[in-house]
Amino acid sequence: MSRFRVPFVPASEITPEEIYRERRRWLQQAAALGALTAAGPAAIAASGVDESRPDLPGTANARHSVLDKPTSWRDITGYNNFYEFGTDKGDPRRHAGRMVTEPWTVEVAGEVLKPRTFDIDALRKLAPLEERVYRLRCVEAWSMVIPWIGYSLSELLRQVEPTGNAKYVTFETALQPDNMPGVSRGILDWPYVEALRMDEAMHPLTMLVFGLYGKVLPNQNGAPMRLAVPWKYGFKSGKSIVRIRCVEEKPLSSWMIAAPTEYGFYANVNPEVPHPRWSQASERRIGTHILAPREKTRMFNGYGEQVASMYSGMDLRRDF
Ligand code: MTE
Repeated sequence: MSRFRVPFVPASEITPEEIYRERRRWLQQAAALGALTAAGPAAIAASGVDESRPDLPGTANARHSVLDKPTSWRDITGYNNFYEFGTDKGDPRRHAGRMVTEPWTVEVAGEVLKPRTFDIDALRKLAPLEERVYRLRCVEAWSMVIPWIGYSLSELLRQVEPTGNAKYVTFETALQPDNMPGVSRGILDWPYVEALRMDEAMHPLTMLVFGLYGKVLPNQNGAPMRLAVPWKYGFKSGKSIVRIRCVEEKPLSSWMIAAPTEYGFYANVNPEVPHPRWSQASERRIGTHILAPREKTRMFNGYGEQVASMYSGMDLRRDF
């Protein structure tokens, strides 16, 4: 199965200690993926991948992947938050098929030297597609492991050349009221808007996603293009994005407008800062046995080594 290839990283890019650690990771990754692919299509089918969906393969990026066992296709595509389609976890799968995803363009503008509107086909081809297995930790204290297909958002931002005034980046979701039954309910200030600080947006882990499990992204997961920011609560990863803007002032996101004491701008996964109404110390891994122990939530969702330095000197209780 070519979509689970172990990648090559030029040795010139890494230090000897990193080489050792990376090699260990590759071997573990190869073993883990081997376990899935050795049994061939049967093992993959066990994850329930909808083989009728168009393929969208990516080269496995072990450097940016975790070794956790991926959540099944059924759970990833059947247990969703996409409030435009309703608040029940099954609503997005039930209703998102009505969203029109063709034609689709994404406007990238604001504080940039080269504002541009991209066609979705051009975006899919802008950089080599990679498969990265990321943890997704939802603010509701459950988690999944998802093999996303895409590339770093920085590849796109570089194309438009952000100016020196570009301090933040906003991401706006499509608004199709006739096709989105949740929009008529005033749950959020539509369209759904999320935002990152420029250094977070440029971080290599921040990913533009076009597919999962080697298939084109299903609508309920944010087709045709969404964000994946693995060290932040899932609500930071906007779905079905139509507009990206570089801005100077710190923006308000839809969740900050809806409940400012509950949802902050940063939303970094932090087991020590509880949500006002529940603890964030542990999480339920979707798809595991109902009696399986809850997992301990890790700072930055386990991505601290890669991202903690961006927040040094900040009070993460205040800047939650
Ligand atoms: N994007 C939009 N436009 N609308 C939403 O309701 N929910 C967020 C995020 N992106 C949401 C969204 C939340 S709370 C989570 S946990 C993730 O999407 C869920 O992504 P998934 O359904 O693909 O697992």
